[in-house]
Amino acid sequence: MPDTDVFILKTLLKAQSEFVSGSSLATALGISRVGVWARLEKFRDEHFEVEAVRHRGYRLLQEPPTLNESLVRAYLALLECDADVTFCEEIDSTNSEAERMLASARKTPFAVLALRQTAGRGRLGRRWHSPNEGNMYASFAFRPNLPPIKMQTITLWMGLQVCDFVNTELGLPVKLKWPNDLMADGKKVAGMLTEARIDADRTRDLVFGIGLNVNGRCADWPKEVSAVATPLAELNGGLLLINRLAAQLTKACVQAYQAFIDGSYQNTFMELWTRYDGLFGRDIQTERNGAVLKGVASGIDENGSLRLKLEDGSMISLHSGEISLGSARHPV
Ligand code: BTN
Repeated sequence: MPDTDVFILKTLLKAQSEFVSGSSLATALGISRVGVWARLEKFRDEHFEVEAVRHRGYRLLQEPPTLNESLVRAYLALLECDADVTFCEEIDSTNSEAERMLASARKTPFAVLALRQTAGRGRLGRRWHSPNEGNMYASFAFRPNLPPIKMQTITLWMGLQVCDFVNTELGLPVKLKWPNDLMADGKKVAGMLTEARIDADRTRDLVFGIGLNVNGRCADWPKEVSAVATPLAELNGGLLLINRLAAQLTKACVQAYQAFIDGSYQNTFMELWTRYDGLFGRDIQTERNGAVLKGVASGIDENGSLRLKLEDGSMISLHSGEISLGSARHPV
């Protein structure tokens, strides 16, 4: 993918809907004005809306509603984020691709983004519906090289950062359902899957995968998916700038990991959890060793386990499992 495209898009974005002259782009790139025009025609084919006015130049009116590699790279450049990002038109699973890249000694951190997954994976062996329709499928790979006991809360921390990003940067009210489903009005907006390779007493590799429903339409999803999931666009009342979002989230995830590794995450972890805990005080139930456990969700402990106050008043901690809401008076 030529840097020319990234440069043109970066310049148009920087101009914030003002016109950029074709000759200034041509001079900066060392190509002809016809060459610039040809690139802009190509953008139109990729669902950008670009206005061209004689003697004034070009301006960007609308961005594509799905991921576009050059545009994400242009946004990353504007954010001064030099993350190593690989784009796939189609891949089995971005988590699997990241694992293969780790196995081939790729330097970390890096990210893998895909327009479509043919075998997207969810937690507990589930499938993640992943067509190319404006949602985000991304994986971030790291080599923590730390004892697993130090990594216990990383999944929750990464989920918290995604949740905080959606609330503060996009202004959309979402909460977390332990361990890290992003929820809005009782429906799932994002799912996250962390997979790690542990050698002896060290977490060698860690892949944090996120599937974020952005601009997809419930009406296009299979019934079993639309019954439980919703896109951010619905909450927003219109399509989101998914390419900007992808660049911002990439930067946020790489920074979140760094804060985890240097320990500074501890300064805000519990405060953020309290703010975004969508289960707190709710009647919930789960299964353990074949038995149904019912109680009231009571936050998390220092290991990230969910505290459950049982009907007899005793408190237990859940390390893993699927939570369902006992009474759905207020959806998470
Ligand atoms: C869940 O809620 O069950 C977790 C879903 C995680 C889906 C994402 S999409 C990108 C990455 N690649 C995968 O195969 N899975 C994760």
